[in-house]
Amino acid sequence: MAAIRIGAVGCGVVATAYYFPFIQDYEKTELVAVCDAREARARESARLFGAAAWYTDYDEMLAKSEIDAVFILTGAGPHVEFAVKAAEAGKHLLIQKPMALTLEQARQIGEAVRKAGVKALVEPSGGTAVSETSRRIKEIVDAGALGKPYWFTHIPTGPSRYGPELSGNPYGAGAFYNKDSGGMVFDYPYGPTAICGVLGSVKSIMGSAQVSVPDRMIVPPENYDRFLAGVTDPQDANYWRVVVNEERSQPITMAAPDNAWCVYEMDNGAIGAYHVGRLFHPMPKGLVMPNLQIFGTDGNIVFGGPHAVSIISKHKDLLPSVDEDGWYHIEHTKHEPSPWPIPPRDSWIYYHESTKHLVDCIIEDRDPVVNVEWGTHITEIMYGVLESSRTGTRYQMETTLTGERSGS
Ligand SMILES: NC(=O)c1ccc[n+]([C@@H]2O[C@H](COP(=O)([O-])OP(=O)(O)OC[C@H]3O[C@@H](n4cnc5c(N)ncnc54)[C@H](O)[C@@H]3O)[C@@H](O)[C@H]2O)c1
Repeated sequence: MAAIRIGAVGCGVVATAYYFPFIQDYEKTELVAVCDAREARARESARLFGAAAWYTDYDEMLAKSEIDAVFILTGAGPHVEFAVKAAEAGKHLLIQKPMALTLEQARQIGEAVRKAGVKALVEPSGGTAVSETSRRIKEIVDAGALGKPYWFTHIPTGPSRYGPELSGNPYGAGAFYNKDSGGMVFDYPYGPTAICGVLGSVKSIMGSAQVSVPDRMIVPPENYDRFLAGVTDPQDANYWRVVVNEERSQPITMAAPDNAWCVYEMDNGAIGAYHVGRLFHPMPKGLVMPNLQIFGTDGNIVFGGPHAVSIISKHKDLLPSVDEDGWYHIEHTKHEPSPWPIPPRDSWIYYHESTKHLVDCIIEDRDPVVNVEWGTHITEIMYGVLESSRTGTRYQMETTLTGERSGS
């Protein structure tokens, strides 16, 4: 079986740290072309990861290189245009998060993909059935281990770098800071993905979002160009390795929300809250906080903390084993908790799993688990939070994880 030929647009941090080294090494993929508006990034990526061609113009890459699948690894701005063009050219797709910034934009991508009959995977896949652990948990919950799940919280507790001057990510200068970027709500589809991964679709949303800390520092994009030019080992192009210690020298104004509460009402009746924001100071030593916790009439499930996942249920027969207190634990891998952003090479990395999953879906002609309908629902959740906050009213969801909501 010939390798799936991949052309990637966006040769920034996420591309070179996680996707390109994997695509280069994986026997089922070949990185044939790379494209970035910043010439040095395209050129250096081709050098490092062995792509035969590099471009600064996306249309040229699509026209000239023989590509089976396009990986869209830029920030959200050009996602709709790039995804629609790729689908129309008959290319399969992987779209980095966020898929789009509005429901309408996400629908445009979905329609183009379905019309063209190509496969499209929308990140993030972590917390979904792309992961074996998440698939097992979903089965246990669907079998009734929690009874009626009725409330939940999801409060991210990382990252482990603190202070406004240290909290800037190294994304290109505009990403998630500009007024129209969606802010941190759109930087974190991980929460809604994890929640929906266990509890299914969201029915309505209330959001309260604001800019709380407008003065921030970020790493200037030129620093990344310099970094990339100096890398010689393609498996060691993780810019985070440098920036966690690097001085943020470019002041920016956070013009989009950096602090949001999102209250979800699920189709299954549960209500819960998700918080988006950064910690500026560490938690007390030894306190390992869970992130997603779901409470039901017959059991609880806790993600994170001392174990990767813990479930207690009055239906013990649904749990593979229980400790003396009645909990079934799935343990952290040897690298957890939180190897991010520099995971050891043999840890579970969602970018790698997504790539493998998309490739298998292309070869076996099946739809990815995190397909365009899934991505559109997650996009609408984030969009709905900001809409609800802006209008002061509850936002009613028009989509579900599997498509348009009937009657909407
Ligand atoms: N950095 C991370 O660790 C990380 C992790 C998870 C997800 N992501 C997501 O991946 C996306 C990219 O993040 P990043 O950190 O790699 O950003 P980045 O700014 O480092 O890289 C994006 C690249 O896209 C290029 N680009 C932008 N518009 C283009 C255009 N029209 N044509 C060609 N190239 C264009 C930019 O020049 C830049 O090199 C973001 O949407 C982010 O949410 C990033």
